[in-house]
Amino acid sequence: MPGAATKFDRSRGFSLRGVVNTAGVKVVSTSALPIDLAGQVTAALPGTVVDVPASGHVPIDRVDLADADALVCLLLDRIDAALLARAPRLRVIANCAVGYDNVDLAAATAAGVCITNTPDVLTEATAELAFTLLLACARRLGEGERMIRAGAWTGWALDQLLGLGMAGKTLGVIGYGRIGRALARRALGFGMNVIYADPLANGEDAKPAAPEPSGEKGRERPLEIDEVFATADAISLHCPLTPQTHHLVNAERLALMKPTAILVNTARGGCVDEPALVQALRDGRIFGAALDVYPREPEIAPGLLDCPRLVLAPHIGSATTEARTAMAQLCADAVIQVLRGDRPPNLVNHVTPQWKPWNRRS
Ligand code: DGY
Repeated sequence: MPGAATKFDRSRGFSLRGVVNTAGVKVVSTSALPIDLAGQVTAALPGTVVDVPASGHVPIDRVDLADADALVCLLLDRIDAALLARAPRLRVIANCAVGYDNVDLAAATAAGVCITNTPDVLTEATAELAFTLLLACARRLGEGERMIRAGAWTGWALDQLLGLGMAGKTLGVIGYGRIGRALARRALGFGMNVIYADPLANGEDAKPAAPEPSGEKGRERPLEIDEVFATADAISLHCPLTPQTHHLVNAERLALMKPTAILVNTARGGCVDEPALVQALRDGRIFGAALDVYPREPEIAPGLLDCPRLVLAPHIGSATTEARTAMAQLCADAVIQVLRGDRPPNLVNHVTPQWKPWNRRS
């Protein structure tokens, strides 16, 4: 019977590569994607059913996962034990983001579900946005644009919208992984010095292998986190959101910052205590800030909109055509790899050995 012995039943594990019968296998995506997921999956795994919305995103609580073997989801989709319970056949969830704080990894691992993410392909795009936000804040671009749009610009003036130059200043990077280092390269190219701290460097979430250094000897220095806050002229966050990094930027750390310093967050909203940031901006404790991410997106915390020295972006760090296409492609690759019985390169959880299809080859 087609599929009977080769369905991806969690209790059976996977079939060997090349002999898999994918009839009856189902791949679901909660979002339309900039690649032909259905075409790619059915070409690689004939007979697979692929369910992708024609446009936009369907909230995951409205998606039928009862017979799904693979899921492509967005950071908007909360993956927890309750969701996994209504998806008993699921083998892989390809999260179309580098961050995976939307996923309860322990629950996924306990359920034998592979979780993958999309690193590297969005590194340059996110670093570009972080640097854009830094310069926009330093040069008061948002204030200037609002002034023009409001018809309030009366003409050039010697003391109009005076900002801060960044050449010769020090950038503090919190989280010196791929994106943090890509930002550092840009800052070094603009004549800045770089100091950095890695809040998770020794923790259980530490990255297994450090990325390549940016290559500029002597102009990058590791420091303790509080020293970075006290020393830097601009601080940019590039750490994942974990219990250790939740509210990493709080009233105490904001108080350590120079009154001329700028805070940039393109990581996760939960890394910053927003009421404390609003207070620091209102009190003129720091020069300004720029945010791309918020704790309860798309909600904007009270007070943020009233801070003129705050640049606001709608979580667009990876929003380039190139990056988003490559992210979707990594998701398609991961789904195909797991359903074929291969270990996906961007696996982020330690799936228990009895479920690891790549352990079943012999
Ligand atoms: C990510 O990938 O984690 C970004 O926040 C969205 O691209």
